[in-house]
Amino acid sequence: MNKVKKAFFCSNCGAEHSKWQGQCNSCKSWNTLVEEIIKNPNKKEWKSKNINGYSSKPIHIKNITSKTIDKISSGDKELDRVLGGGVVPGSLVLLGGEPGIGKSTLLMQVANSVNGKVVYVSGEESEQQIKLRSERVNKYESDCYLLSETNTQTLLTHLDNLNPSLVIIDSIQTLYSSLIDSSSGSVGQIRTCTAELIHYAKQTHTPIFIVGHITKDGSIAGPKVLEHMVDTVLNFEGDRNHLHRILRVHKNRFGTTSELGIYEMNQSGLKAVKNPSSFLISKYVSDLSGHSICATIEGIRPMLIEVQALVSSAVYGTPQRSSTGFENKRLNMLLAILEKRAGFQLGAKDVFLNLAGGIRLDDPGIDLAVIVAILSSSLDISVPRGYIFAAEIGLSGELRNVPKIEQRIQEASKQGFEKMVVAKTVKPVTNKIQLVQLSSVKELVQHLF
Ligand code: TYD
Ligand code: MG
Repeated sequence: MNKVKKAFFCSNCGAEHSKWQGQCNSCKSWNTLVEEIIKNPNKKEWKSKNINGYSSKPIHIKNITSKTIDKISSGDKELDRVLGGGVVPGSLVLLGGEPGIGKSTLLMQVANSVNGKVVYVSGEESEQQIKLRSERVNKYESDCYLLSETNTQTLLTHLDNLNPSLVIIDSIQTLYSSLIDSSSGSVGQIRTCTAELIHYAKQTHTPIFIVGHITKDGSIAGPKVLEHMVDTVLNFEGDRNHLHRILRVHKNRFGTTSELGIYEMNQSGLKAVKNPSSFLISKYVSDLSGHSICATIEGIRPMLIEVQALVSSAVYGTPQRSSTGFENKRLNMLLAILEKRAGFQLGAKDVFLNLAGGIRLDDPGIDLAVIVAILSSSLDISVPRGYIFAAEIGLSGELRNVPKIEQRIQEASKQGFEKMVVAKTVKPVTNKIQLVQLSSVKELVQHLF
């Protein structure tokens, strides 16, 4: 009988098992067995035959003419920019994010504004629910079909008949393929369904957006291989209690991964934020201690953000060091530098650090602003108005220059700042803002406090 043959493989060591079990016999790790198809009779097997019988041929790289790919606009400028100029035909874009962050809303907006036929496949909501959301976010009705379907074979048949120019899958965890038995959302199912979607996308040159659920630790639920298979991985993040949402790229085969999209969730869906600096710095804080403003850069986009710190005497034996949006290890390092190089004894203090607006950044250029905010809070002296900071701090307490300093200076002067504290080696680019060039944390303390 023609039957699909399956086996269970350990995702850790690769050992094969005939049936599912909790622990791998070989490497003894738990919950690592994944169902996989080892023989599919519907698929043709490889047999050695005359090479001319095959349609694919190896081509010398010199003989391939490079075509510029025409990227399709998603109708959302922010998303287009994050994707590297638009959606590439035949590509798979995975959009991950916590529940309620706005993944379905964003993709509904795309479905409503893209030029051409769109199929929105939902395994989570009924057609009525999607229609309600669609009315909420956009009055304009495009050529959009809604499909409540979870079986990939049926789904692909529908897609074949409709021949859309964009497909949206909400979400990959609800799909199941009849090829394997495990329940939808399991690792094997996710992998098989994605493989089927990739096959469809590459054959028909239809771009597909896939929504992926996120697990408790923030990674996309399912196998890591899912992220390897797709062309682009986007992450929609932000605090559900804040209005702002940040669209980040983790992988992009057609553009950079350093782009960032910022949206605001309001009554009628998501709106792109044109000038992020204005929401990331509040206007009335400059007289309080523990605040500083930093000129940072994400991708090619300069932004000004506010760093807030609170230093207080520790109530418990071990002082707490906690930071939101900034790496904790780096905070500990900066505190050690302050102690060793500038003589501030913060060992017995609690230190809390926050980057305003629920944003998370890895830019080393924030270091200086972090140190200033901590010192300001510790001494209870506010940072003078009009000051902005951008420099990395080295282990010996020296100020170092950071990449794209010219853009940071331009953005700071555009937003009306008067003095920018930078490393000694920075050259002025405009006379609208005064540069304060310092070489060490010690000089900084003398200059500011
Ligand atoms: P949704 O797109 O359903 O999130 P996800 O698919 O990521 O789980 O959006 C969820 C939240 O967005 C919902 O709790 C309410 C909010 N929202 C608005 O504030 N305004 C709107 O216009 C819409 C459609 C949603
Ligand atoms: Mg949803």
